[in-house]
Amino acid sequence: MSRARLGVLVSGSGSNLQALLDACASDGFPAEVACVVSNVPTAYALERARAAGVPAVVVDHKALASKADFERALLGVLREARVEWVCLAGFMRLLSADFLGQFPGRVLNIHPSLLPAFPGLHAQRQALERGVKVTGCTVHFVDAGTDTGPIIGQAAVPVLPDDDEKSLSARILAEEHRLYPLAVRLAVTGQVSLDGARTRVAAQATTGELALRSPGAPK
Ligand code: GRF
Repeated sequence: MSRARLGVLVSGSGSNLQALLDACASDGFPAEVACVVSNVPTAYALERARAAGVPAVVVDHKALASKADFERALLGVLREARVEWVCLAGFMRLLSADFLGQFPGRVLNIHPSLLPAFPGLHAQRQALERGVKVTGCTVHFVDAGTDTGPIIGQAAVPVLPDDDEKSLSARILAEEHRLYPLAVRLAVTGQVSLDGARTRVAAQATTGELALRSPGAPK
């Protein structure tokens, strides 16, 4: 069976990109990374892509006159690489409804909180400031809002008394790296899909090793 072609959009370190690259390199994974695009020329994620032999392209929003120009250039790169699914992985630009309409139900994002709590920037800092005892990460379908799209999966972690932003971010990131490949697998195989403003989950995605659950569901 042919593998789904992912375009991964990044702006920074790219540890989630790495998790996707590693998953795609594993036996039987139903997707491959067809290209990586960064809006930041110095992003370390670009090195990770090159090291994995994946085309790494910079589309620098600062070098383009408007958001429309940026998105046109981005779309050109993704089309050229025959990308079918778009995965945002630490990508720090908001995409317009027009752009998202080019990949209907096929744009995913990962965010370091249990949405709808703490959308936007500095989610871990927001969690610490509010004193929550549990936080985590969320993979969701992307809509034109900020971290508002229908949720595919979440993983929870404790917030410990001595945590600072760095320690909490690291604990969440470890879960992100587990959750994103799992969510991508479920999405590209159609076990989760966008149904209007909701996520539809096929029965086979609710049990067994692919089940999206954290903490674990009762056996
Ligand atoms: C992650 O915490 C992700 O959830 C958020 O930005 C961070 C990106 O980290 N959207 P990395 O670039 O994948 O290491």
